[in-house]
Order: sequence, then structure tokens, then C-alpha cells
Amino acid sequence: MNFELNDVQREIQRVCRDFAARELTPNARRWDDRHEWPTEAVKKLAELSLLGMCAPEKYGGAGLDNVCYALAMEEISRGCASTGVIMSVNNSLYCDPVLKFGSEEQKRDFLTPFAKGEKLGCFGLTEPEAGSDAAAQRTTAVRKGDEYVINGSKNWITVGPKADAIVLFAMTDKAAGHKGITAFLVPTDSPGFDRQPPDKKMGICAAWSCTIYLEDCRVPAKNRLGKEGDGFKVAMSTLDGGRIGIASQALGIARAAYEEAVAYSSVRKTFGKPIREHQAIQFMLADMATEIDAARLLVLRAALLKDQGVRHSMESSMAKLYASEMAGRVCHHALQIHGGMGYSKEMDVERHVRDARITEIYEGTSEIQRIVISANLLKE
Ligand code: CAA
Repeated sequence: MNFELNDVQREIQRVCRDFAARELTPNARRWDDRHEWPTEAVKKLAELSLLGMCAPEKYGGAGLDNVCYALAMEEISRGCASTGVIMSVNNSLYCDPVLKFGSEEQKRDFLTPFAKGEKLGCFGLTEPEAGSDAAAQRTTAVRKGDEYVINGSKNWITVGPKADAIVLFAMTDKAAGHKGITAFLVPTDSPGFDRQPPDKKMGICAAWSCTIYLEDCRVPAKNRLGKEGDGFKVAMSTLDGGRIGIASQALGIARAAYEEAVAYSSVRKTFGKPIREHQAIQFMLADMATEIDAARLLVLRAALLKDQGVRHSMESSMAKLYASEMAGRVCHHALQIHGGMGYSKEMDVERHVRDARITEIYEGTSEIQRIVISANLLKE
């Protein structure tokens, strides 16, 4: 067994760490405060080939492995969690299913420009009545000649306000339950596709999300992704990869909070010495560092299994469950170490607390991860 990263993985980590320190950390508080989409940062993600990291080069991607992707997601999210989730949606939730389930023609039109970062994609599974119970889709797609006519709504669609296309799930056979769900590639300028203004959220404020309404939205039949009825499996296997991205995002947020707590504890003095010399603080830092390392090992194991082509649903869920809840605990301690300053908007730690919270919710709540883990543990 070997815990060493290879040269390429170390280089990706270095490039992303430098980029985050230079371009993300100095701007993240302002973007959050103004709820400002990080336009320049997203452009630079494209220039660095970070928007289609695991897509092969012939489809405009960087042709890297999932370990590289997880390392990059941690570093980018360490600088700005909003930029991190934009990167993860395009990579994991959009490019990944098009690569895995798309035809050559679909890859040409719906993967290459997105993997290059010329366009952005998003993922439309969640509905007002279908969050954790993803099979309870109400959006319908009815075949009429060479088209499908889609009606319904999707909400909390991260990157939705900026996306050029969406991997959208709809019922083609309501009576068939999850076996009646089908995936589609829908350009966001399709007639009948309507986006609401960005949602008002507690955290990841620079990563816009929105509700989408589909009213007789007509999509060519050739835009169906996979077979009719296979949509639930497309969604679930996509989320197996997406959860690695969100676990890495949580890890990056936790690292930011931890590193800021270490720095603050060196300059803040109480009772005549820097607070890092008090055992109460040292023990908190020790727990934080240990949990961050434990989460990273889970994340890298899940990424490695994905690279090996092994089913990794349980390991991805374990990584996401642990890393997201760990990020909550680490950010809580980091704020405590900052004392009153931690509660102030003059420091970044309050943003990390808000940003970390969503990682326990999106791409499957902690409760959903426990369902996936226990179902895999207990299966015959
Ligand atoms: N890969 C492939 N197939 C899978 C699968 C996987 N990981 N998981 C399940 N399946 C298949 C099963 O094999 C089964 O197939 P058969 O019918 O052929 O046997 C079928 O799917 C149904 O599986 P289950 O019975 O396990 O399904 P379920 O209805 O009990 O629920 C669930 C499964 C885990 C609860 C699921 O509904 C789920 O993950 N819910 C959470 C949804 C979620 O994560 N939403 C996030 C939205 S995206 C987002 O958040 C984006 C963002 O903003 C950034």
C-alpha cells in the first residue's frame, strides 16, 4: 500500500493551491458579500483545464484521473467554496454523465465545449416534491414524433442561472416508478425553458442556483441521454462521482477554517501568551487536523476506486458523510478559537461556517448517505 501521490497529482495540487491563494482567497469574501458570480475565476478554471478534468482530451477535457480531480476540488474550495461547487457541477454532474452515457454526437455537441469550459452545464434532478426521494419525479416528458415535450419544474439548480445546458430528468412512464425516469440533454435556450432569479441562500452565495420551469419545452428525441427508463440509474451513478466532489469541497472548507484558526491562535494573546500555547486550543487543533486527515483518506479512497472502475457508491457516501459533518465540526471549533472576531464579517471564518453547512445537504443529505451506506453494508 502506498500513500504517495504521483508527480502529476502533486503538480495539479500545487497549481490549484497557488491559483487559489492568488486569485480566490483574496476575493472570496467580497464575492460572498455581494452575492457576485466569480466570472473571472470561472474563466481561469477553464484556462487551467479544471472544468473537464476527467474527460478525455479528444473531448476537450484534461484526461486526468479522479484523484487529481479530488485534490483540485479541495484546493479550489479552500480558496472559495462557491467557485469549488461551480467546478464540481460542471465536472461531476454534467460532463461525467455525458461522457458515460452519451452518443458520439452528444459528446461532440454537449461534452466538448463544456469540458473545454467554453460553456457551462448543470444537473436537474431535484424538484419541490422530489428532493431526497429522487424517484418521485413529477416533471414529465412525452414523446411526440421526433421530439419530447417536457413539463414541470426543478429547483435548487446550482449553476442553473449561468448554464448553457442541463442534464434533466423527467418521467416518460409515470406508472413505472423509478424505471419510468429518463435523462435528457436540454439547451437552456430551448423554447419553454424558463429560469427564475438566483435563490437567496445562507452560504455559497457566489455560486448561483435557481428554480427552472419547463412549459411545453420541446427537445429533439436525439437529446435523450441513455435509454428511456434508465434515467434513475444515470442520476444515481452520476451522484456516486458527484459526492466525491462535494466531500472534497467540504475538505477544502475545513482546511481553510483550520489554517485560519492556527494563524489566529499564533497572534491572539490571552493570559500573557498566544492562545495556541493553551492546551484547550491545542486539543481543538489536534482534533481538527486529525479529522481533516481522516476525511481526506476517505475521499482519496473513493476517488481511487472510481479510477479503478470499481463500484464506489458506499465509499463515496462515506466520504461525503464524514467530510461534510467533519467540516461542520472543524468550522465550529475554528470560529470558537477566533472568539468574538470569528463572529465578525471582518474575518473569513463565519463564511466557512455558512459554506460548510450545505455540504451536509446537497447531492444527498447526511441521512441519504447513511441510507446508501447501510443498504450496501447489509446487501446479501
Ligand atoms: N448506481 C447505479 N444504479 C443504482 C445506484 C447507483 N449508485 N443506486 C441505486 N441504483 C439502482 C438500483 O440498483 C435499483 O435498480 P433496479 O430497480 O434495477 O434494481 C434502482 O436504482 C433503485 O434503487 P433503490 O431501490 O436503492 O432506490 P430508492 O428509491 O430506494 O432510493 C436513494 C435511493 C439513495 C434514496 C436515492 O433516491 C437518493 O440518492 N436520493 C438523494 C438524491 C440526491 O442526492 N439528490 C441531490 C440532487 S443534485 C444536487 O444536489 C446538485 C447540487 O445542488 C450541487
